[in-house]
Amino acid sequence: MSIWHQRWDENRIGFHRLETNPTLSDHWSKLSLPSNASVLVPLCGKSLDMHWLDQQGHTVVGIELVEKAVKQFFDDASMLTEEESKHSGNKYSAGKIHLYHADFFEVQPDETPFDAWYDRAALVALPSNIRPAYVEQLCQLTAANSKGLMVTFDYPQSEMQGPPFALPDTEVEQLFSEHFEVERVQWTDLTEEEQRELSRCSLSVFILTRKSFMSSNSGVQ
Ligand SMILES: C[S@@+](CC[C@H](N)C(=O)[O-])C[C@H]1O[C@@H](n2cnc3c(N)ncnc32)[C@H](O)[C@@H]1O
Repeated sequence: MSIWHQRWDENRIGFHRLETNPTLSDHWSKLSLPSNASVLVPLCGKSLDMHWLDQQGHTVVGIELVEKAVKQFFDDASMLTEEESKHSGNKYSAGKIHLYHADFFEVQPDETPFDAWYDRAALVALPSNIRPAYVEQLCQLTAANSKGLMVTFDYPQSEMQGPPFALPDTEVEQLFSEHFEVERVQWTDLTEEEQRELSRCSLSVFILTRKSFMSSNSGVQ
């Protein structure tokens, strides 16, 4: 059983927020997307941010490893779902929201390629050595010129065991700059606010725009 299955089983989901994330509502319009854009939400949990994205008119596609999270997302909103079996897992749909119960690294959603993506607590949930594969998979699933909004968290890694794992802004630049234009639109010092005993911690918000040209040896198109 993965640590994530264990966490959901034991209801240790402190990452789940009971309101829409303010960074989403503050910055999403800067992506200048048409309302019918399709939005990928990797490692989505049962985030209420997906309802907010749905309300903007988007088709929302979440990918989540733990089925309990997927079911709770719809049950909590009293939404009836249609279920389809896919080769990489089950797809649950209600209106314009589709959640795949699947491993993000294995899935090929029907809605690919996406116009946009939203990452809150997804890349920071993964240790550093897995992050290049996450970026690679994002590239496989998103269209040229697609846009992403990503919220990250940084602190001295030696002071706390993740997840969330520390993600310095310099690592974001290293991971994404080959395939995306990287723009940081917010940096907030959380050292005083966080309950954890960290000597420093901060939140960053990035807008990432997929470059239309990919280098020929990158393995992505
Ligand atoms: C820190 S939580 C964040 C959830 C959500 N983004 C939010 O803001 O509430 C990370 C989620 O990713 C899921 N997850 C972890 N590894 C995954 C994978 N390989 N594929 C899909 N989901 C995964 C976990 O089960 C967990 O629900």
